[in-house]
Amino acid sequence: MADNDRMEKLVSLCKRRGFVFQSSELYGGVGSVWDYGPLGVELKRNVKERWWRAMVHSRDDIEGLDAGILMHPKVWEASQHVATFADPMVDCRTCKARFRADQLAAAQCPQKPSKHPGEHTACSLTEPRQFNLMFKTFMGPVEDTAAVVYLRPETAQGIYVNYLNVLQGSRQKVPFGIAQIGKAFRNEITPGNFIYRTREFEQMEMQFFVKPGTEDQWFEFWREQRWQWQLGLGLRPERLRWHQHGPDELAHYAKAAFDIEYEFPFGWGEFEGVHNRTDFDLKRHQEYSGKKLEYFDQEKNERYVPYVVETSVGADRCSLVVLCDAYHEEEVEGETRVVLRFHPALAPIKAAVLPLVKKDGLPEIADRIYRDLRGKYVNAFYDDGGSIGRRYRRQDEAGTPWCVTVDGQTKEDGTVTVRHRDTLRQERVAADRITGFVAERLGS
Ligand code: GAP
Repeated sequence: MADNDRMEKLVSLCKRRGFVFQSSELYGGVGSVWDYGPLGVELKRNVKERWWRAMVHSRDDIEGLDAGILMHPKVWEASQHVATFADPMVDCRTCKARFRADQLAAAQCPQKPSKHPGEHTACSLTEPRQFNLMFKTFMGPVEDTAAVVYLRPETAQGIYVNYLNVLQGSRQKVPFGIAQIGKAFRNEITPGNFIYRTREFEQMEMQFFVKPGTEDQWFEFWREQRWQWQLGLGLRPERLRWHQHGPDELAHYAKAAFDIEYEFPFGWGEFEGVHNRTDFDLKRHQEYSGKKLEYFDQEKNERYVPYVVETSVGADRCSLVVLCDAYHEEEVEGETRVVLRFHPALAPIKAAVLPLVKKDGLPEIADRIYRDLRGKYVNAFYDDGGSIGRRYRRQDEAGTPWCVTVDGQTKEDGTVTVRHRDTLRQERVAADRITGFVAERLGS
């Protein structure tokens, strides 16, 4: 069931604490683009870093890539995005609003929000028309049709057109994969739900090239790998499920597709897909470029165009999943405590260092601990403003796993209080062990 109240609270917390701001807010905002503030950028970087580690650094059969956003326009003809990457849309001649024809039942009439578009007496909807979701722009000084290029709607195509380059340079053999993190753009007709559906977003995609006939087993392998990765983010398993695409849901390139869905406050929604893309993309690029994209297996003396199993997850949507899952409200000593229970590896700030008072040498000790943490690249925060209770609450809202308080006893025995975010347990730890204490608990 939709929980609008919870979503509103999360969006407001994200703005207040500097996770996510509306783009160009100063000018009234721009539709469905969001900016990440100091805490948000750390969170999203941690999500991406964790993905890169799992998909590239911990494996010897996957290479990384960073391809350009602008590509030759023929790429998008070959991939069929020019012809088929479209949603059916209807316009209202009265209020000029535009809706997805297949989502009218979920939309509101702007003039009478209790009704769906088309139900109000003043509504006058056009017949559905196909609306291509790719953003167009012009390359070079002349704005004519010959100069049209597209902002990529998926990162995958940059991988396909580079697959032979990577293969040759890296000495990989099929089966192997190429992974990429980067921006993608879609002129969504009905964006919304905060950073869930936006017009500019980041994807973390991996294309795994396999011998034809082995794709089903690799498809299952990658489904399991991706499921385990999501669980490793500390997400609540009961809020995750698989959704298999039916024949009418499959993208033009896919023979089989499974989504991982999360139960957001606004309902279940997809945030990762595992797709069997067959040899569709490579064969189309072969046809449109006129260049062979075959793999030659030297041991078996065989040539073939590999099949591709794709894993594709949005960095923004995944960050939203992490935020929604982490958000908790609870009663503590008669007050509501809002806490983001991030996995420590994803938390934007790992430790806050708090001198109990601004005198008696405590700030100097706290500053030393803080600098030691930063010196080891642990993102730490120093806060000496306000009561200790208020400082703890601020860190709870930022999702900081540990608060390190320097107090009178520190000067006597060299220990500090470590307060654990989730359990509120407090323990004394030697001040010179704090950096090690935090590093040991960050997990992989
Ligand atoms: N290369 C395959 C592909 O792009 P997709 O299901 O269209 O497949 C993959 O997109 C992932 O990209 C989605 O699961 C989602 O996490 C993210 N994504 C897609 N469109 C998005 C949008 N408009 N805003 C935010 N994330 C989006």
